[in-house]
Amino acid sequence: MAPLAGQEVFTGSLSALWGNIRHAIPSQFLTKAMIGTLALLGTISPTRNNGQPQLSASTHLEGLYLLGVGIGDVTGPVVETNMFGYASMAQTDSGVHMRQWSRVFIVADSANPSQRVVYINADISAGDTAVRRGILTKLEELYPGIYTEANVALVGTHSHSGVGGYVNNLLPQLTSLGFVRQTYDAIVDGTIGAISQAHDSLAPGYLSLGKTIVQDASINRSPYSYLANPEDERARYSGDLENTMSLLKFTHGVDSGSDIGFLSWFAVHGTSIYENNTLISTDNKGMAAYLYEAYMEPDSLPGHAKFVAGFSQCGPNTLGAFCESPGQPWDGLPCDFERSTCGNRTQECHGRGPGYMISDFKSNEIIGTRQFEGAKLLMESPDLQRIAGPVRSVHTYVDMSNYTFALTNGTIVNTCPPALGFGFAGGTTDGPGAFDFVQGTNSSAHHNPMWDGVKGAVTPPPTEEEKACHWPKPILLNVGAAHKPYHWSPSIIDIQIFRVGQLVILILPSEFTTMSGRRLREAMRAKLIEDGIVGQDAYVVAVGPANTYAHYTTTREEYGIQRYEGASTLYGPNTLDAYIHLYTELANYLSEDATDQPPSGPIPEDLTPNAISLQKPVVKDSVPPFKKFGDVLEEPSPVYFKGETVQAVFRGANPRNNLRLEETFLAVEQALDDGEWKVVRTDSHPSTTFRWMRTQELLGFSTITITWTIEDSTPAGDYRIVYYGDAKHLGGNIESFNGTTPTFSIM
Ligand SMILES: *[C@@H]1O[C@H](CO)[C@@H](O)[C@H](O)[C@H]1NC(C)=O
Ligand SMILES: *[C@@H]1O[C@H](CO)[C@@H](O)[C@H](O)[C@H]1NC(C)=O
Ligand SMILES: *[C@@H]1O[C@H](CO)[C@@H](O)[C@H](O)[C@H]1NC(C)=O
Ligand SMILES: *[C@@H]1O[C@H](CO)[C@@H](O)[C@H](O)[C@H]1NC(C)=O
Ligand SMILES: *[C@@H]1O[C@H](CO)[C@@H](O)[C@H](O)[C@H]1NC(C)=O
Ligand SMILES: *[C@@H]1O[C@H](CO)[C@@H](O)[C@H](O)[C@H]1NC(C)=O
Repeated sequence: MAPLAGQEVFTGSLSALWGNIRHAIPSQFLTKAMIGTLALLGTISPTRNNGQPQLSASTHLEGLYLLGVGIGDVTGPVVETNMFGYASMAQTDSGVHMRQWSRVFIVADSANPSQRVVYINADISAGDTAVRRGILTKLEELYPGIYTEANVALVGTHSHSGVGGYVNNLLPQLTSLGFVRQTYDAIVDGTIGAISQAHDSLAPGYLSLGKTIVQDASINRSPYSYLANPEDERARYSGDLENTMSLLKFTHGVDSGSDIGFLSWFAVHGTSIYENNTLISTDNKGMAAYLYEAYMEPDSLPGHAKFVAGFSQCGPNTLGAFCESPGQPWDGLPCDFERSTCGNRTQECHGRGPGYMISDFKSNEIIGTRQFEGAKLLMESPDLQRIAGPVRSVHTYVDMSNYTFALTNGTIVNTCPPALGFGFAGGTTDGPGAFDFVQGTNSSAHHNPMWDGVKGAVTPPPTEEEKACHWPKPILLNVGAAHKPYHWSPSIIDIQIFRVGQLVILILPSEFTTMSGRRLREAMRAKLIEDGIVGQDAYVVAVGPANTYAHYTTTREEYGIQRYEGASTLYGPNTLDAYIHLYTELANYLSEDATDQPPSGPIPEDLTPNAISLQKPVVKDSVPPFKKFGDVLEEPSPVYFKGETVQAVFRGANPRNNLRLEETFLAVEQALDDGEWKVVRTDSHPSTTFRWMRTQELLGFSTITITWTIEDSTPAGDYRIVYYGDAKHLGGNIESFNGTTPTFSIM
């Protein structure tokens, strides 16, 4: 990479630099990898800066950071558990398409490593208060005093095909039959594993930033609401869509460093896999990450590459929304523009991705590939801007149920206790209906026993004051007043900001519409520059949903329209202005000389110890007399050609007995010349699927179906499929077993 103008770091006396760094880093922060790289630094010869005089030590440290990356498996129970995103009772998982991962990025100030930030990009629908608490508690045990409320951010990729039930509040638990501890533990433990890896790999290096436009990978889901924003404001932008991808490149070493990963941000809704899919997957962000990591290290299995590719979330599907109303004249036509209905019904209006006519996973692959290509363009670009400046973080909790503040025109306003409007129940074009909102009835096809457990299945009626506060939103679910058996929705949310040099990351607990995001970012950038905190090169990204899930945020004008997003703007018409006020108020904590944190604010309660959990445990697995777990019930054919799909069926057991984290439920193995077998595919490869089916409930019989669609790049040779299972016996003990198909050939 060509040196950038004005980029004078890492020249001159490297041994002086080494001494400075060693001196600057307290010993408890020194990791093995850091010592290794520091040693390496001493042997690199200076080539930059045309032989100009040496820079002072402090200048050397400018732009030098300690960087680490890591990845961990966070896949909860892949069967008999509700998926989180569409909030549909019917979407209960039945197997795996791709595993979910947490990818972690740590940046520490090289001169003062206690100033650091930890960015967790997890393949989950949204960050969550309880999960974040769990992660922080374990971090405090492992690394006392280093990782804090302020410097750890839990950002969800907003996949709508991950395992559910991990959340703190009641409303998103309604479809998962309450809290699912197994999912929660998988996310906390896998994330801790990823953070430990990133921590242990901390070593000196530099960061560079760039942006590009990614076309045809997203749409605005509510263009009608967008048009409610003032014309002169809309005229300042090219459209109703933010299609800029921003990327932060992580490079270890100096001079000819090696790239260890990147974090990228692009706004696209995590719904390119449909609501009728029941195989656990990571949607388009996780797909893009898999593609990039496999591109960098083709021989590493998913989740085991050293290079970590972060595709993070900053809204909408690509082709727009169409009616699926067989037999009706409007079948196949675009949905009603204003209300997203088909023949006045929301249920038949579905968003479509570019691969909708090909397969359920095709849109996912196409949208993932477009993001992969955007990131590749940036990673290979010679024009990235070097990051330099302090590392800072700030965090506070705010009770949004009545946050009172002054608008920029001086008018004093307040936010309202959380409530969802009637537009919420219509769902969106990505997935009709949400959270099984038909309360307290037994008439629906999927009767939800949660309603029986939730006393007074309807939320308390809103008071006149609450109605006025949310006006013009008609209140459907008065969740802010629903605290039984515990809080339905969060009133207390996280406001958090990271700064790394000129890059400022606003970590949001909510999904912002395009214009809301623009207003917040611009207000923040203006404030940072005006107060002299960051220079004219200040670059602000807004990411989420992170830390907790506070539904949507629209502009005041879009709120007036009350489509799904406006109806889901929890805290009323002043929600966006409150966020702008709260974030900009914290700007001073990002300045170079800032050392303290604002008051913590009211700390949200961890509701998980007393949460309702109605998911039934696995009773037992068994096989018919004289049969074995792992028996092959359907063998693959003897010979296949590339592009064909291999299928095998085994006598199985419930995969909930052992999540096999960091492992796999299946392996495609290739025969090597020496008679050994090599694992070439796992359950996390997009070309494989793993499906479980209970065939006899009372006796505990089940089957596993494994498929592998042979990629064109697969070498000819001999292969077999192995299934790894765990059976639960009636006394409770769990026994591991495996099953292996006969060998088959690929021509
Ligand atoms: C899933 O839903 C999509 C969109 O409604 C439809 O095109 C597809 O055929 C459905 N797939 C299955 C397996 O039902
Ligand atoms: C939808 O509702 C409108 C207004 O109520 C009515 O005029 C129209 O006929 C309805 N369309 C259908 C297909 O029911
Ligand atoms: C909200 O707070 C303001 C003052 O801070 C107070 O006047 C008002 O009554 C409060 N509203 C509610 C619903 O508690
Ligand atoms: C300030 O702005 C709000 C929101 O647009 C508006 O409702 C209010 O009337 C304005 N106040 C003044 C004094 O102009
Ligand atoms: C729904 O059915 C369950 C039993 O299946 C019963 O306990 C419950 O009271 C019913 N709820 C309503 C609202 O009728
Ligand atoms: C399956 O399990 C058996 C018994 O534990 C073991 O000997 C064998 O190596 C396993 N096969 C595979 C492919 O892991």
